[in-house]
Amino acid sequence: MPRVVVLTGAGISAESGLGTFRDAGGLWAQHRIEDVATPERFARDPARVHAFYNARRAQARAARPNPAHLALARLEAALGAAFLLVTQNVDGLHEAAGARNPRHMHGALDRALCAACAHDWDAPEAMAPEDPCPACGAPATRPDVVWFGEIPHHMDEIGRALAACDLFVSIGTSGEVYPAAGFVQEAALNGARTLELNLEPSAGSAFFDEARHGPASRIVPAWVEEVLAAGG
Ligand code: OAD
Repeated sequence: MPRVVVLTGAGISAESGLGTFRDAGGLWAQHRIEDVATPERFARDPARVHAFYNARRAQARAARPNPAHLALARLEAALGAAFLLVTQNVDGLHEAAGARNPRHMHGALDRALCAACAHDWDAPEAMAPEDPCPACGAPATRPDVVWFGEIPHHMDEIGRALAACDLFVSIGTSGEVYPAAGFVQEAALNGARTLELNLEPSAGSAFFDEARHGPASRIVPAWVEEVLAAGG
């Protein structure tokens, strides 16, 4: 059974109606990163940061998984423990498609985190700066998302999986944001084959052994069918 690590980014959810960050008209064209996605801004203006993530949570909860999310869940069901899904996405569309435990390296809109005691819990629909932490009572509720300048989640486990995998596949990500952008080289250094599935060549496209370009809803199910037909 080949050991497969899949990394996904905003492009896999684009056809579910969730905007990407860096495509024309994307989130970072509408909002400055430093206004909504840094711990410093949250400390100064938590209401504004909450408003941004409350709106994103509402959009994400209304979205439905597309054939690319569903295909990855089929692959996970076939490969079991030989498969690790790592996502930079904060939406819950992999779970909605049936993924058992995608590693949300940039956190998840569906979770809340106490900035005072680090307790985490299921996020309500909307959060406000004065919301008390259910564990310690501090009015320090924040979205459990990773902001610029913070350390992504699950990095030790992801590092071990990249070192041990036979195939690394990157789907719907621009390759602009580290550490995820460096996973392809990390996997290749350890002898894995590498494949990019993206609408267009990403910033790191040249680092991959193979790249296939097109919409995720078409090229991801096609690739998964190939893997399953080859016996996993
Ligand atoms: P980006 O917006 O940077 O890149 C999205 C990629 O998806 C681009 O390369 C698009 O070409 C591709 N794409 C768009 N539509 C697609 C489709 N239908 N099928 C396949 N590919 C498509 O998003 P990410 O790479 O996910 O971090 O961004 C990485 C991180 O930057 C995010 O997790 C977020 C952001 O700042 C934080 O907020 C910490």
